[in-house]
Amino acid sequence: MSELAEGSREDRVTAVMPLEARGVEKFYTLGDGRRLHILRGVNLSVATGEAVAVVGQSGSGKSTLLHILGGLDRPSAGEVVLSGERVTHVGEREGKGEAKRGAGRDALARIRNRRVGFVFQFHHLLREFTALENAAMPALVAGLPPAEARDRARDLLHAVGLAARLDHKPWQLSGGEQQRVAVARALVNAPPLLLADEPSGNLDPETSEGLHDLLFQIRADRGLALVLVTHNRELAAKADRIQSLRNGVLQEAGSEEAAASGNETGPEVPENAPEEAPDDV
Ligand SMILES: Nc1ncnc2c1ncn2[C@@H]1O[C@H](COP(=O)(O)OP(=O)(O)O)[C@@H](O)[C@H]1O
Ligand SMILES: [Mg+2]
Repeated sequence: MSELAEGSREDRVTAVMPLEARGVEKFYTLGDGRRLHILRGVNLSVATGEAVAVVGQSGSGKSTLLHILGGLDRPSAGEVVLSGERVTHVGEREGKGEAKRGAGRDALARIRNRRVGFVFQFHHLLREFTALENAAMPALVAGLPPAEARDRARDLLHAVGLAARLDHKPWQLSGGEQQRVAVARALVNAPPLLLADEPSGNLDPETSEGLHDLLFQIRADRGLALVLVTHNRELAAKADRIQSLRNGVLQEAGSEEAAASGNETGPEVPENAPEEAPDDV
């Protein structure tokens, strides 16, 4: 309950969706003043137990979007609400000044820690720590007693099929096993939402399939909301909905578009594209 108390009253709504994003815009301003418009008015709501795949060409802004959805990056405009709590204004509300900005970042980190789990293409496990310690880390950060954090991590590592690998360091695990540890770590604080950015991008086809089955099994078992960025057509096809990101716009993908998502044909927003506007600020 304490993390709910962090939000102001209007941040809490009664029927909470794990994820609601409204009017999300993202610009990058380059050194020479040119402005890249990466996301244009993106809206995305994901309900409990729902799986949404996001497809799009390389450079189309999928990772940027996922980072914004999970509060790892800020949108230029628009808002993101995680389980009824607005994350987009958390830091800003604290006001200016380094100490206050720091407090804002801490508040955002706390929300992220509880509300969302991430699985990236690269596992980002800490190499000096065992699978069990890595999986337990977010629970320790959340302030759980160490014994409880370890119990939760152990249960999850069992659930992802790694009961016999608890004391292995990341470099003593295969690529598929490392990703399973990353999945366990993402779930240790029981977030209602899991965001995965090309989670099987570094795995061979067979291992990928095992990981995909695992993600959907976990979705079913835990009623998780799942957002998957993927180039893998089979994985995208398992989702309830496929959204395609193109020229900064996120739309329901037609079957042809989804099928074309495996093509890596370069940036959607090329250097001379009309969507670039000179930054006049
Ligand atoms: N910090 C940044 N500054 C400027 N441009 C960026 C920055 N981060 C990403 N981009 C650009 O934004 C676009 C989308 O990147 P990304 O979200 O990583 O695409 P995807 O995950 O779909 O391959 C790319 O053209 C990339 O070069
Ligand atoms: Mg990416």
